Amino acid sequence: MTQSIERSACGKVILCGEHAVVYGRPAIALPLPHMRAWARIVPSDDSFKIVAPDIGQVVETRHSPSGDVPGASLREQGHNPLALISHLTLQHTQQESPRATLTITSDIPVGTNLGSGAAVSVAIARAIAAWFDVALPPEEASALAFEVEKLHHGTPSGIDNTVIAYEQAVLYAKGTTPAMITPHPTLSPEGRGLLLIADTGHSTPTRIPVGDVRAAWEKDTGRYEAIFDDIAAVVQRARAALLMGDWSALGAAMNDNHALLQQLTVSSQQLDHLCQAARAAGALGAKMSGGGRGGNMIALARDAEHVTLLKDALLRAGAKRIIA
Ligand code: MEV
Repeated sequence: MTQSIERSACGKVILCGEHAVVYGRPAIALPLPHMRAWARIVPSDDSFKIVAPDIGQVVETRHSPSGDVPGASLREQGHNPLALISHLTLQHTQQESPRATLTITSDIPVGTNLGSGAAVSVAIARAIAAWFDVALPPEEASALAFEVEKLHHGTPSGIDNTVIAYEQAVLYAKGTTPAMITPHPTLSPEGRGLLLIADTGHSTPTRIPVGDVRAAWEKDTGRYEAIFDDIAAVVQRARAALLMGDWSALGAAMNDNHALLQQLTVSSQQLDHLCQAARAAGALGAKMSGGGRGGNMIALARDAEHVTLLKDALLRAGAKRIIA
């Protein structure tokens, strides 16, 4: 019998370009390697069960000699993200449901734009493929997770599943091969040594601001396309700054990106307040990150010594926690 298997996937943070990336513009995302979702598979007697104790979910598929009992197949439970990614991975690897229990745990906070949904999908896909000893390259894990992202928020750009499956800083634009970025070493290998992530403590499902931007874009396409173009230009500045280690330029790009996201109406009072507090405390730049209307903002410290000061300033300004 196959031994237990465990695989994981990291969280992510959007550095710049969110929302415009849904409309084909580029965006930059960074992996959060120390924050992960885990999928552990252990053999069992007769059913494939997916258990997510943190969110109180159990998905069960009974086996019969001729296969899964009708009405309880993974495919038929495909409205559930855990069932869908399992079904898609089994289909992709051309395997039957294993007789096993798959348990999901995660230390990526849910609903804060840090990629918890995509990380759970990639971890499950990796664990199932590993269980059957099938190689699953990042582009395949990413494509499987993308299908599940559609359940989460309708019209995903694909940036979350991409950065999480590759676990590298990435410049991503829909329909193109993702370009991996190696940030200047002074920012740390994964590109976020001086970057603080602060949680507003409020969360809004990504599909809501994404849907609102869609409705506004349909009404006033020209204006929104122009904002997306401005965001694309900011993303190119941020990319150059990231490669050269020009943190002042990166900070300025972050500030400009936040102003453009305000124009898209996806920021919030708390996000604006934390950005102002970070700048007042000397941050090189600050912006909301991800879907917005809550969730996280990011702030760029001047240097390693400045990190602690900036953390304190953000907590004093009402951040619920800092993810350094
Ligand atoms: C989600 O991390 C970022 C958004 O741009 C949505 C997407 O890209 O699918 C808001």
